[in-house]
Amino acid sequence: MNVIKYISTVRQPRVKLEFLGVKWYSKYVPGEPAAPSVKEVYGPINKRMKKELSEIQSTLSVDRFIDLDRSIGNYFVDADGNIFLDTYMQIASMPLGYNHPALLNVYKDQSKLVAPPEMGYVNTQMCGSCSNEQAFKHVFIWYAKKRNGGRDFTKQELESSMHNKPPGCPHLSILSFWGAFHGRTTSSLSVTRSKPIHRLGFPLFGDWPAAKFPLYKYPLEENVRENKQIDSKSLEEVEDLIQSNEKKGWPVAGIILEPIQSEGGDNHASSEFMKNLQKICKKNSIALIMDEVQTGCGATGKMWCHEWFELPSPPEMMTYSKKMLAGGYYHTQEMLPDKGYRVFNTWMGDPARLFVLEVVLQTIKEQKLLENVQKVGNMTLKGLKDIVKEFPNVLHSPRGRGTLIAVSCKDDPTRTKILTSMKKKGIIGGSCGPVSIRLRPSLIFEEKHANIFLDKFRQAVGEL
Ligand SMILES: Cc1ncc(COP(=O)(O)O)c(C=O)c1O
Repeated sequence: MNVIKYISTVRQPRVKLEFLGVKWYSKYVPGEPAAPSVKEVYGPINKRMKKELSEIQSTLSVDRFIDLDRSIGNYFVDADGNIFLDTYMQIASMPLGYNHPALLNVYKDQSKLVAPPEMGYVNTQMCGSCSNEQAFKHVFIWYAKKRNGGRDFTKQELESSMHNKPPGCPHLSILSFWGAFHGRTTSSLSVTRSKPIHRLGFPLFGDWPAAKFPLYKYPLEENVRENKQIDSKSLEEVEDLIQSNEKKGWPVAGIILEPIQSEGGDNHASSEFMKNLQKICKKNSIALIMDEVQTGCGATGKMWCHEWFELPSPPEMMTYSKKMLAGGYYHTQEMLPDKGYRVFNTWMGDPARLFVLEVVLQTIKEQKLLENVQKVGNMTLKGLKDIVKEFPNVLHSPRGRGTLIAVSCKDDPTRTKILTSMKKKGIIGGSCGPVSIRLRPSLIFEEKHANIFLDKFRQAVGEL
């Protein structure tokens, strides 16, 4: 089997919409169906394609095949014609859902292909992992300059660097948090602390420290004192690790964290925690790196989730990818390297994707999608809280900002049952952490979609 055949099987001829037996409409994307519709969760075409694909690559992480022609707006249509309301959106990566008209038009405007991109203090990269990886290099360059006053490299540094040895390749570290996910390249994997399976078998930076992320008790309003103590403990540990790593000879140059720890279980930290963490960074001349790969680009109802924290000054670095469609990072002026080619790669990301991103950003503005996310997010979370009240023995800790919402189940098998049942009812959902279900819909997720989700989710829980 070759790849061409594989793609052509995915892209079947467009069938008449009535074939699917549903009415099609949407506020943002014409042609959306009104409801999910599943005939057979794993239909014959999916099964056949999976078998064929397994002849050329591992299919252990393939659930189903998408029909890219027929998937539209909030709806994922699989190769067998099953229609799912997609509340997970390729793990939080589709800002305007499937086949948004604005995106379909973007490559038609050839003039954009020669326009110089506006960079400012932005560094474009390919993916989330490489954005974090390169951001660390900025941090190390900045850190060294602070310590040695920006002098030139010594002969010993130049020579030892070719042997991966200090002082040319110094022992510096990045502190991260248990439960974090920051990617799969070597440095970004060294700070990824969510699951052993991501790390097993790879040589990583053993002396890079990790602190406990604050894991709150819910409901927040009933556990204020306890949660404050949880914040303090985590911050104390951060300070201790900074001291002990300095003594060990692996000083901490940067601290990386997600504004909402996503893969680790949708763990939210308070604004107070974030402000105090930033204070610790400033006090110790350490750079703060916000990883907004999953939380950014409007998912929380603000363009960047960390804006909610109202930090007195910006973090030194903020990385992005997923809904931004390519990777990269913003940074403050002081993080600019003073020599060329210190942080570089051939394509510097994927320039063509900047045109698509431009359209996404315009559409977010024109269609007031951040307002939509806040409104729909609030109503979804409220609906979810009502369901949790109804089933307190099965669910707990509903939480969220915007439509970046999660709820915990009593245990992992229960979560699996709920997600499987939801799929049978036509809803794609996601999991995170040991027992949580998370929503990562696109920015065009409307109240009516939220109502379908809530209705099916409630049914799935009720049928346990
Ligand atoms: C918070 C966070 N950072 C980094 C990454 C890595 O991004 P990529 O898969 O684009 O390398 C992810 C991916 O899930 C992520 O959620």
